[in-house]
Amino acid sequence: MRSNTSKNILIIYYTFSGQTSSLLRGLEETLAKKGHTVVREKIEPVQQLRFPANGFLPCIKMMLTTFFRQRIPIKKISPQCEEDFDLIILAGPTWSYNPSGPVLSLLDRDGKRIFHGKSVIPFISCRGYWRLHWFGLRSILRKCGANVPNLMVFAHPNKEPWRTIGVFFKIAGKTPERLPLLGKYYKKFGHSKDQQKEAQDFGALIGEALNQNTPLDILDFQTRLNLP
Ligand SMILES: Cc1cc2nc3c(=O)[nH]c(=O)nc-3n(C[C@H](O)[C@H](O)[C@H](O)COP(=O)(O)O)c2cc1C
Repeated sequence: MRSNTSKNILIIYYTFSGQTSSLLRGLEETLAKKGHTVVREKIEPVQQLRFPANGFLPCIKMMLTTFFRQRIPIKKISPQCEEDFDLIILAGPTWSYNPSGPVLSLLDRDGKRIFHGKSVIPFISCRGYWRLHWFGLRSILRKCGANVPNLMVFAHPNKEPWRTIGVFFKIAGKTPERLPLLGKYYKKFGHSKDQQKEAQDFGALIGEALNQNTPLDILDFQTRLNLP
């Protein structure tokens, strides 16, 4: 049964290589445990994008086009996204310092309809370079009429330069973890189990804040674990 502090939350997200969705699972679970109703909507490109890309050339092409904020056409989202949500979490990866192409398409096409007058917290999964993405996204959301009280960012926990090289190889369809030299320094692509646990904790934090009517802008999501 819904308690009288229960809120409606929409998690709308895009994920290319599964990292965003791996973090969102725990977040959604703990929000629900705190008594809230969570609707989850996946943004689907019209033409499914292939992960990994088919080699280095397609990978470089993808990075270049996304640098210029190329939109990726997306399918219609479900009508329930237009319901009256108390909080929306807009989640997805950083692509060449920008929001991903499918998220940009969503903002262009549906942004004003879905986000106007709503509280929206961006949730970013990235290898480590998210600030331009955040500034740009916040500005677009504000233009759509949203209130953006906070953000959650998860960076891959590997050290540079192995993190950048590893992600590049992984997207190109190679297995950097198993390459003779790179594999010594790059053990795993993406987020760690501890970060997944931290996403769960963030869900509990938000859930509790919503129950207590605590302003969401005072929550601290910047820890050494999610932003190593
Ligand atoms: C085309 C492309 C460009 C990327 N550019 C960046 C970037 O500028 N900064 C960054 O930190 N990570 C970048 N990444 C890495 C992703 O943000 C990161 O791997 C993320 O965890 C992927 O999340 P997902 O699996 O949910 O798509 C890029 C990945 C792709 C595919």
